[in-house]
Order: sequence, then C-alpha cells, then structure tokens
Amino acid sequence: NWTMSAFMDQEIERIRNLVGEKGQVLGAVSGGVDSTVAAKLMKEAIGSRFWAVLVDNGVMRLNECEQVQKDLSEHLGINLTVVDASQQFLDGLSGIEDPEKKRKFIGSKFIDIFEAEAKKIEEAAADSDRAGKIEFFLQGTLYPDVIESLSFKGPSATIKTHHNVYATLPIIPALCLCLIEPLRSLYKDEVRELGRALGIPEQLVMRHPFPGPGIAVRILGEVTPEKVEIARRADHIFISEIREAGLYNQISQAFAALDPSRAVGVMGDKRVYGYMIILRAVTTTDFMTAESFEFSWPFLQRVTNRIINEVHGVCRVTYDITSKPPGTIELE
Ligand code: XMP
Repeated sequence: NWTMSAFMDQEIERIRNLVGEKGQVLGAVSGGVDSTVAAKLMKEAIGSRFWAVLVDNGVMRLNECEQVQKDLSEHLGINLTVVDASQQFLDGLSGIEDPEKKRKFIGSKFIDIFEAEAKKIEEAAADSDRAGKIEFFLQGTLYPDVIESLSFKGPSATIKTHHNVYATLPIIPALCLCLIEPLRSLYKDEVRELGRALGIPEQLVMRHPFPGPGIAVRILGEVTPEKVEIARRADHIFISEIREAGLYNQISQAFAALDPSRAVGVMGDKRVYGYMIILRAVTTTDFMTAESFEFSWPFLQRVTNRIINEVHGVCRVTYDITSKPPGTIELE
C-alpha cells in the first residue's frame, strides 16, 4: 500500500528529527497491535535508543508474556525489557471486587512499576553509548482514543476508565517525558496497514484487542491466582478452536470469562461444584456497538467439552449472546 509506506517514511523522519542524534525514548508494550506497531516504527527510526518495556501484570493470557517477548525481541528486533511483576499485582488484587477499583489499582500499580523500571534503564545505560536522560515517552494512541479522551469527562466516557488514556495522565509529569504519539491520526485498520508496511507478521497485525486490566476484568468479582489460571486455560482453548476453525479474522474480539458462582455437575460418578465459564465473541467495526458472533452448534459443543474435560474446576460453560448495547463487550 503506497499511502501507508509513504506515511511510514514520513513518520520515521519526523521521529528522527524530534528525538535527535542522541535522544532516547521509552515505551510500554503489551503485545497488542497498537503498541507493537508503534514500537516497530520507533525501532526503525532510532534502533536501540528506543526502550520497550513489557510488564507482566499476572493477568495476561496463557503464555502471553513469553510469546510477546519472542515476537518483539527475537522477530522484530526491538530493544525489550520484561518485568515480572505478576506477584505484586495478584497480591494487590486480592480482596478487590469492584471492577473500577480493579482498573484503578492495576493502572496505578503499572505506573509505579514502569517508573521504577525507567530509572533502572537510565542507570544501566549511564556507562554506555546510550548514556543520558530518557526524554521521550512513546504512546500508541489512536485517533478514536484521542476523540474519546477529549470527551473523557462526559457521562458516556466515564462508564469505564480506559487504561490507555487514563494511565498515561500521571505518568508523563512524574517522569518529565515528552509524549510521542505516531499513531494519533490513524484508525485501527490503518494501524494494521502500517504494521504490514513495517513487515510485522499477519498474525500479529490481526490480533484481537485485549484490555489493559486483562483477565482481571474477565473474572467477575475477586481475582485469585486459581481463578486466573482457570480463566486463562478456558480462554486458550476457546481461541485455539476459533483459530483452528478459521474464524479468528471474522471475529472482532473473543474471550472466556469466569463467573465465580458455583454450579452443580456430575463428573465420573461424583457430584461436583465448579465455576461457570462464559464465552464471548463479538463482531463490531468501532467497539461502540457489537453483535454476538453466530457459531455453529457443533463448534460450541466442541469448545464446551474441551473446557469441561481439560480445565479442572469448571462444570458449566455458557455462551453470551447479548449485543452491545445493552451489554458491554467485557463482562465488567
Ligand atoms: P466494553 O466492555 O466497554 O469494551 O464494551 C470496548 C472495548 O474496550 C476494551 N476495554 C478496555 N481496554 N482497558 C483497556 O485497555 C480497559 O479497562 C478496558 N475495558 C474495556 C474492550 O476489551 C473492548 O475492546
């Protein structure tokens, strides 16, 4: 696509001018499309003077951290630091039931960890050819985020505090960093196009979005390590089957959530109590409205059987067919 490769060249040039010969840039990555495309663009512009940081918050998908590390560091050559903060997040989440409190906790903990890591990076680089203060912060903000954050105080925008916009407000003054937002004029499909122009593999470019607070908002009520493990395994089966059936790119977002109510079941000849898994898959163009995806009955039966048989602690699986509105895409 000519337009996107022209945009790419122009942005790389703009970043180089902005950052200068020696300037350094810090950025958080999640493995999602936006932060990956922004990071790759940065890498093309200034190489290892761009520092990407991935924080494992303990509520990522199954094997996600390792996968992102491979993709970004090995395959895309991005200068990446991974911080395992999973225990700190899981400890702090213990006892919190309210969805917004979970979001706020995860957002502010993220900032603490990120700040500490930024200091470490600066200290470690002090004796190298990359010595000097990090002055810039990369943010993968898209055009719809810009619009939404402009109306952030409005009644509809306060329904949920979106991590992307909300988390960056305090991080900038605290670190005294200038913001670089190379994607802020683009829509999602344009970001994907830019990703292709940058040579990012199709499977990464087409990934479904994943919320910053991760599986924490896909477990209704209190988050415990046991519930995270169950939700993660169920989600992994669901997504693998979706891929296997060739449906991944027809769906905008899909995941498994955990309802902590326990239902009765019979396994072997024993009566058991287990959690309920709620599967959700939607199609949407703008994520403001969405329809549930129409799976075939055999597909849903196959996923259900696999989850019941393979994920210990689950004894019912349901499929949520609520549209948005009135439902939201996430369960919390
Ligand atoms: P809802 O549930 O509001 O979700 O219909 C719309 C889109 O936003 C994502 N989402 C979030 N993303 N932090 C994020 O980074 C959040 O707290 C958050 N809550 C929802 C959701 O996954 C969907 O793509």
